Amino acid sequence: AEQNRELRERLLQLKKERNAIILAHYYQRDEIQEVADFRGDSFLLAQKAAETDADTIVFCGVHFMGESAKILAPNKTVIIPDERAGCPMADMVNVEGLRKLKAQHPNAKVVTYINSSAEIKAETDICCTSANAVKVVNSVEGDEIIWVPDKNLGHYVQQKTDKKMIIWEGYCNTHDMLTVKDVEEMKANYPNAEFVVHPECRPEVVALGDFVGSTTAIIKYCKESPNKEFIVGTEDGTGYQLRLDSPDKTFHFATKYLVCPNMKVNNLKKLVRCLENMSPQIYVPPQVADKARLSLERMLLVK
Ligand code: 13P
Ligand code: SF4
Repeated sequence: AEQNRELRERLLQLKKERNAIILAHYYQRDEIQEVADFRGDSFLLAQKAAETDADTIVFCGVHFMGESAKILAPNKTVIIPDERAGCPMADMVNVEGLRKLKAQHPNAKVVTYINSSAEIKAETDICCTSANAVKVVNSVEGDEIIWVPDKNLGHYVQQKTDKKMIIWEGYCNTHDMLTVKDVEEMKANYPNAEFVVHPECRPEVVALGDFVGSTTAIIKYCKESPNKEFIVGTEDGTGYQLRLDSPDKTFHFATKYLVCPNMKVNNLKKLVRCLENMSPQIYVPPQVADKARLSLERMLLVK
């Protein structure tokens, strides 16, 4: 506790010196979410990065999030606590594979989940997050969509749109691990609880949801629901904001395995160190960034 107090004091000092803003995803450790200027889901944090006047953006999340911030704010310095914090789902699609699919479906528009590399975004018509996926797909001209990389979110969106989606076979290791059996056991143990679930979970698990949405949407739903008890089907870090917003409610995570090891690579010590050293920094080659930026900016314009 004493060490964390010292780290937090040092962080405040460094933030002023560097004119920095700290963005943290809801899946980050509590000790990071506590000191963030903004906590949010992927969509909200991308918006904050695009809007900020700060000189330095410290992005506490996984690599593609820092990259998206750098693409949207190319004149800012973007630093991250640890460059080993990646997203395995983002690595499940490569440029060669996507180009092949585009050649097979020349009339299809490419809609890419923001959980992807800058190179993939550069091959993309429009990006989306779990918060706006249906809206983005419906906003696209034409009726054929190439969707990368999350098959689970893709299946969820396919049920809500008339467009024909060609869906890549990627998935999130963490969310995809949750099974129907896990959820049924929890429902039996907590019969009054509502089940809230992230669309990165398997379709048959999502089908059990009383509410389906991005992390921000889940937090908002739980706060506003008259219900007092919830089974949560998303990453464990979300508990920080859930408990902050709804201190009188009870949250049961659907399993103890809903932990993204990549998100947990970051900690307070590394956060302070990266601001101290102004490293590791995110760099995106300008030719890639310029193309990728269009796909992100189009997403931010979808109402
Ligand atoms: P959201 O931030 O859109 O809820 O997505 C969750 C996620 O898995 C981020 O890596
Ligand atoms: Fe990637 Fe899943 Fe971790 Fe999000 S929770 S960063 S999608 S592995």
